[in-house]
Amino acid sequence: MSRKTIVAGNWKMNKTPAETSEFIKELLPEIKDSKNVLIAAVPFVDLPAALEAAKGSNLKIAAQNMHWKESGAYTGEVSGAMLKSMDVPYVILGHSERREYFADTDETVNLKAKAALSYGITPIICCGETLQQRKDGIMQSWIEGQIEGALKDITAEQVAGLIIAYEPIWAIGTGETATSEQAEEVCGIIRKKVAALYDDATAEAVHIQYGGSVKPSNSNEIFSMPNIDGGLIGGASLKVADFAALAAYEC
Ligand code: PGA
Repeated sequence: MSRKTIVAGNWKMNKTPAETSEFIKELLPEIKDSKNVLIAAVPFVDLPAALEAAKGSNLKIAAQNMHWKESGAYTGEVSGAMLKSMDVPYVILGHSERREYFADTDETVNLKAKAALSYGITPIICCGETLQQRKDGIMQSWIEGQIEGALKDITAEQVAGLIIAYEPIWAIGTGETATSEQAEEVCGIIRKKVAALYDDATAEAVHIQYGGSVKPSNSNEIFSMPNIDGGLIGGASLKVADFAALAAYEC
């Protein structure tokens, strides 16, 4: 299997530009021997500091959201064109917090994903079910619907190059992690859905991460699952030692 493990920190609304520079300066020597793709998704205002601090290193920088229009009357928004102008290589789209508090939907996630791809920015598309949906037995159909909606009109070639993050909402920031079997099951469901929508080669190529209370003590077991290609990590990515420990994963 040729897929790489992708360890992506999602800082959410944390750290100032000065704190960002300092953190990355401390982190880089600790991660320099990592064999994995390493990403830090930082707040918009931290992007210049993060890009500068990570320049020439093995740490890639991501934004946490973007608008699908190139420019216009969208107060408070940031466009893919703007991210592209700074050479931001990745963007998280449709995180459950964006869906819950900022009205992201499968439709807008799809618009954003298509826009990101048009600028050559790799989307990290998030999906995940609530605890109630899992209890009600509709987890699979919900996840499949999110994948179908997010990938609408995106080509097989584009899907092969993007990242999907499975993040069960009940495991985000709660300290409650899905078991590696639960995470593997759903990442497998996502891969099968991609195969059904496209073909086996596309499903084999797409990277699928797990997110939700990943930390150094549980990451090895989760990352070693066959359908899981790394993690999207919130809380633990805010600590240099934890980020470095996660980055050190070897399959
Ligand atoms: P967590 O967040 O690791 O703090 O649970 C994960 C995420 O929301 O991406």
